[in-house]
Amino acid sequence: MQLKEKFPGIFVKGREIYTENLVKGFRYSDEKIIKIKGVEYREFNPFRSKLAAAVAKGFEHLPFPEKRDWIMLYLGAAHGYTVSYVSDILCNGFIYAVEFSDRCFKELLPVCKERKNIAPIFADARKPEEYSWIEEVHALYVDIAQPDATEIAMRNADEFLKQNGILFLAIKTRSIDVTQKPKKICQAEVEKLSQAGWKILEWRMLDPFEKDHGFIIAKK
Ligand SMILES: C[S@@+](CC[C@H](N)C(=O)[O-])C[C@H]1O[C@@H](n2cnc3c(N)ncnc32)[C@H](O)[C@@H]1O
Repeated sequence: MQLKEKFPGIFVKGREIYTENLVKGFRYSDEKIIKIKGVEYREFNPFRSKLAAAVAKGFEHLPFPEKRDWIMLYLGAAHGYTVSYVSDILCNGFIYAVEFSDRCFKELLPVCKERKNIAPIFADARKPEEYSWIEEVHALYVDIAQPDATEIAMRNADEFLKQNGILFLAIKTRSIDVTQKPKKICQAEVEKLSQAGWKILEWRMLDPFEKDHGFIIAKK
């Protein structure tokens, strides 16, 4: 089976998802690496990343640019799993990766050391003034598993996201309400964004890859 570029920088081979390894020989953990015509591709696991889950769930548009040169603000970088893949996808761009847990941040640092297009920022996404020095960004990725993730995303977008910029927002519905149906909760977050003037490009629940999580892509 052939490797096909499904979205800029994101490749699929049957059900497997890959990115082109920006740093030859780099492995985040035990992911499979395949080599085609001297190019390395790393397998991207939809059970470990909401972005990969979005690909696996059949999102129609992941609006990364052909030139793969966006500047992105990524909130909730954790140990750097997904960020390392975004760094492959945006090989000509740059990522500001914010994380507030010192344990996670320590594990994020070696990933950033090997990948020159990620700047780790130890800060609270609720306080964008802590990283007000960053430049304007083309995209904002938010995966912070907080009940007010949508509000935090909008506040950061007001500060840093260019007009027509893209928001990728992961919703952990169980952080918002454990009694309501996950899809209904996510629908309400989508509605919140629409009411605030965002254009919703696509959204879906990510089950079975990320149980009770939704993923929203919207344009400012
Ligand atoms: C679900 S994990 C992110 C996983 C990561 N995006 C990935 O796919 O590899 C959520 C992360 O958000 C971080 N986080 C939660 N609230 C935050 C805040 N207010 N500011 C910065 N980081 C936050 C947590 O410490 C945690 O590491």
